[in-house]
Amino acid sequence: MGLSEQLERLVEEAEEHFVRRCGAAPRWTVAAPGRVNLIGEHTDYNEGYVLPMAIDRYVVMAADRPDGQARAAGGNEARVYSVELDRWATITVEGDVAPGPRGWSSYVQGAVAGCLEKGLRPGPFEAVIHADLPLGGGLSSSAALEVATATLVEAITGQRLDPLEKALLCQEAEHRFAGMPCGIMDQFSSIMGRQGHVMLLDCRALEAELVRMAEADLAVLIANTNVKHELTGGQYSQRRAQCEHAARVLGVRALRDATPAQLEQCRSRLDELHYRRARHVISEIARTVQAAEAIRRGQWDRLGQLMYESHRSLRDDYEVSCGELDLLVELARSIGPEGGVIGSRMTGGGFGGCTVSVVRHSAIDSVTETLYDGYLQEIGIPPTLFATRPAQGARILRPPSD
Ligand code: GLA
Repeated sequence: MGLSEQLERLVEEAEEHFVRRCGAAPRWTVAAPGRVNLIGEHTDYNEGYVLPMAIDRYVVMAADRPDGQARAAGGNEARVYSVELDRWATITVEGDVAPGPRGWSSYVQGAVAGCLEKGLRPGPFEAVIHADLPLGGGLSSSAALEVATATLVEAITGQRLDPLEKALLCQEAEHRFAGMPCGIMDQFSSIMGRQGHVMLLDCRALEAELVRMAEADLAVLIANTNVKHELTGGQYSQRRAQCEHAARVLGVRALRDATPAQLEQCRSRLDELHYRRARHVISEIARTVQAAEAIRRGQWDRLGQLMYESHRSLRDDYEVSCGELDLLVELARSIGPEGGVIGSRMTGGGFGGCTVSVVRHSAIDSVTETLYDGYLQEIGIPPTLFATRPAQGARILRPPSD
């Protein structure tokens, strides 16, 4: 499968950086994409459904064995350089690795540790990491880094992980090494993404159904607020705990198993806050399944309606939106279907990050301009916007497979 121009450029740059930093052309190059979720937010850790796709934005890693001198210096270590951060880090590549102090390289270390547990032993290497995903911008740059690392270990060892096992070990890396108790959506999407498709992922069965975004005229427009209000991840784990509490009160294994009627019956046993949290999750899971059906049938009005309802629910019941996200969604909504906007909502964990809008191709420029101007005027900083289509999951690019 050919590479997009975007990816080709990124790979070329990464390989040039490698030559500059490490003195020769890399032997292995891999790429792992970020993701955007069309609908189904904060449902993955409730064992519900999500509807993400991989996007044409990546973390690329270019690598080789260290030269003789560096190899003599550290037999159990790899050295990785981040182009974006202009920093080197040292990674342990042998034995049982315990989580250390948290930092950008924790994702790399966590994924390597997971691979070691599965018996994939890469040995020492040097790697350059280059990304066109905004770091911490809500498009799963961290999952892409974990997945790129695991893919690099596959390339180096010549052994392949089962894709699901690979997603789970990357998720585990995020839990143990980065302290973020995320669901499975991001890592799964970065590995299993299919060009031209969104994935209806059942986060209990861990099975995905591919849904074709059939209409050639549609694109996905991502708008980054360039703000981040949650710095520690504390809100995320708090939401998880609130969902678990609500599930216990409702007497179900996970909120996936509760119906709206059950929730209403138990209303008096839940306080207002837990009631609203559960209402978001239960209604969002239903909306996600309906949205997949709307896409299959090309019912774009319906898809738009579900996206706006999802945003409202995340804003009012789940309380993970913020003024900047609300503004971008309102700007998109006011353009409406006449102006080429099918639907729009916040995407990812929330508290900043990005919105996702489904937009007619012919309207991308005008919609981009309206969102950019309106946001800049109101918030005082420029948003970053780009259009993308569903992309292919993580790949080994060098050595080429055929
Ligand atoms: C983050 C997590 C995902 C998911 C989303 C919210 O991106 O990493 O697992 O829970 O938030 O839908």
